[in-house]
Amino acid sequence: MCIKFYTFLYIICEKGKRLMSEVIAIEGGYKLNGSVRISGAKNATVALIPAAVLSDGPVEILGVPEISDVEALAILLKELKCEVEVDGERIRIDPTHMEDIPLISDAVNKLRASYYFMGALLGKYKRVKIKMPGGCYLGPRPIDLHFKGFEALGAKISCVEDTYLLEADELIGTSIYLDFASVGATINIMLAAVRAKGKTVIENAAKEPEIIDVANLLTKMGAKIRGVGTDTITIEGVDYLGGTFHEIIPDRIEAGTFLIIAAAAGEKVIVQNVIPQHLEALISKLKEMGIKMEVVGDNIVVYGHDELKSVDIKTQIYPGFATDLQQPLTTLLTQAQGESHVKETIYVERFKHCGELNKMGAHIEVGEAQSTIHGQTPLHGARVEATDLRCGAALVIAGLIAEGKTEITNVYHIDRGYDNIDHKLITLGAHITRYEIED
Ligand code: EPZ
Repeated sequence: MCIKFYTFLYIICEKGKRLMSEVIAIEGGYKLNGSVRISGAKNATVALIPAAVLSDGPVEILGVPEISDVEALAILLKELKCEVEVDGERIRIDPTHMEDIPLISDAVNKLRASYYFMGALLGKYKRVKIKMPGGCYLGPRPIDLHFKGFEALGAKISCVEDTYLLEADELIGTSIYLDFASVGATINIMLAAVRAKGKTVIENAAKEPEIIDVANLLTKMGAKIRGVGTDTITIEGVDYLGGTFHEIIPDRIEAGTFLIIAAAAGEKVIVQNVIPQHLEALISKLKEMGIKMEVVGDNIVVYGHDELKSVDIKTQIYPGFATDLQQPLTTLLTQAQGESHVKETIYVERFKHCGELNKMGAHIEVGEAQSTIHGQTPLHGARVEATDLRCGAALVIAGLIAEGKTEITNVYHIDRGYDNIDHKLITLGAHITRYEIED
């Protein structure tokens, strides 16, 4: 799949210059069998790439997923005059000759994680000018905790129209308590603090595996970080960070999506390159639904099952049930007998997929920060819209089990976060094509 082409298509459609857009079309009802290999974690990658600019030498990262978010970050690196080489799953970033240049191009809006350049560039230059980040709309997504951390370190922040300016004479380590264990704020403050003077303590820090992965890269670069994976992260600032080599952890959300796909449409599917401990909450729920699974090293074997039991889900910060898997799991819950309930505690408006699933025959009621799924309902093909990345995944799963043809529009959302999803599914026996339609 050529992500560049799809991104290009999206850009021209977005500007209204051409009224064509792309769909993923799925002919449902084919049973899946075989193996699928999980790519490097998107939500680690999108922080590791900005983290690399803190180095004064080349950083090589392996296991980079082929997703359009990576392409947008590579554009931003080039704008900063970093040397960037992308070769399959490898990216080499050489920031030796980079310059302190404002990041104000459209590439910033392509993803939310462009905000990691705030922490990284503030750490490096004590100054950064950057447009507001973009990303999926999941309801309000404030970044006040990131700013609270930067300000505590000594930065002054102003915003003119859609551009932020963050500046500090110097960054001085301090104690920062996060009112919510935010993934983005924990990483961003860590990025700024690794080159601050003295000791920074982040209390009520988030513990997601992607944060540990970023801390591991920074540590290899020479940072002094303790306590990642716990509530309290301590960082001793250093003057110099150097080049290194790092391999990204497998994507637990992509892995979880494929476990759900296998449960929904598979006979016997082996999901490879997984860290099962990262998926304990999902694995427990799938077992509660009656799915048979075996963990064999870093592979999980899933056996399809016709009679599924309903379950209740409450999304929580890690290691609780991941909000990013709530949407894909909802599709599977439409196939369970009885009523299931989903309660969202992270993104209270993350329910747009429910309306789309209802167009395919599901019976889902959405209330305040929760949904009720009345199963079991057969699904039928329809034209539906990927309103955000994980909604897209939920619709792909629905398309695989629906009778007839499902067309999913706004596929650029899916391409932002799933590496070659069509190809991986076709290898398992799915019938999927892509083509353009008139908007
Ligand atoms: C990360 O988003 C992920 N994105 C999200 O993945 C994921 O859903 C989320 O963590 C939760 O696990 C990336 O890693 C790029 P948060 P992030 O800061 O960092 C509130 C996907 O589909 N909050 O932990 O933005 C916020 O409103 C995506 O891959 C504040 O109030 O998540 C939300 O309710 C989408 N103020 C909650 O915290 C802040 O300053 C979670 O946000 C920051 C956050």
